[in-house]
Amino acid sequence: MKRNPVQGFYGGISTRYEIVNSIITLGLDRPWRQRAAGQAASQDGERWLDICCGTGDMSMDLLANIGPNTTLFMADFSKEMLDVASEKEELKEINRTLADAFNLPFKDDSFDLVTISFATRNLNLGRGKLEKAFLEINRVLKPGGKLVNVETSQPDSRFVRALFHIYAKAMITPTGYLLTGDRKSYDFLTNSMINHHDAHSFNEILGASGFREVEFKPMLFGAVAIHSASKQQDPNMNNQ
Ligand SMILES: C[S@@+](CC[C@H](N)C(=O)[O-])C[C@H]1O[C@@H](n2cnc3c(N)ncnc32)[C@H](O)[C@@H]1O
Repeated sequence: MKRNPVQGFYGGISTRYEIVNSIITLGLDRPWRQRAAGQAASQDGERWLDICCGTGDMSMDLLANIGPNTTLFMADFSKEMLDVASEKEELKEINRTLADAFNLPFKDDSFDLVTISFATRNLNLGRGKLEKAFLEINRVLKPGGKLVNVETSQPDSRFVRALFHIYAKAMITPTGYLLTGDRKSYDFLTNSMINHHDAHSFNEILGASGFREVEFKPMLFGAVAIHSASKQQDPNMNNQ
């Protein structure tokens, strides 16, 4: 796999990723993921996939909710982030795949649930590319399968949105730079957050990527949102 700049970024910060995250979100990233994982767990099935899993925080929250007949799979294109995940006792035995979200090495219709946490901004290389990534997720989901996406978003109130952007600029790059020495990468992260879609526009992207029953729950005045959606049921199922 050819290494791209985002891979280089996460490769460089993998061991400090969680502490920086915790500081810039004031520890809120944990309950946000836990809430998304709780929502995801309403989906039964044999196979769950956590893509762009990074160091495995979301995967751990999924494991806390998983049933005995369900197997969790993890995928990310950063070997270094996966290496940090592999050091966690709970994740040692979990199937981890080095994979690009735009070209997942899984068969069509193979998962009951796909989750993605705090990584959609990285796939937002333009609307067309973002739709392509979610078409790919749709492809690997089984008909009737569920997507749960938790990501920063844009508060509806212009005032709160402005405050959120000021906070992002004041906190993310300085904290990231202080703890990792990598200013450029954290600048990229700040900009990806400020320029990301709002929850309504992301709804449309999921619809354009073939998802149905698209809905979202805003958190922290809309600065973060959990989107859920389903892959259309196989129409032949109705005739059986
Ligand atoms: C902000 S981290 C989120 C990690 C984890 N999901 C969490 O909640 O902490 C973004 C992750 O997405 C991964 N990523 C970004 N673009 C990717 C792509 N095209 N394919 C696979 N993984 C990707 C990065 O390597 C990184 O581990």
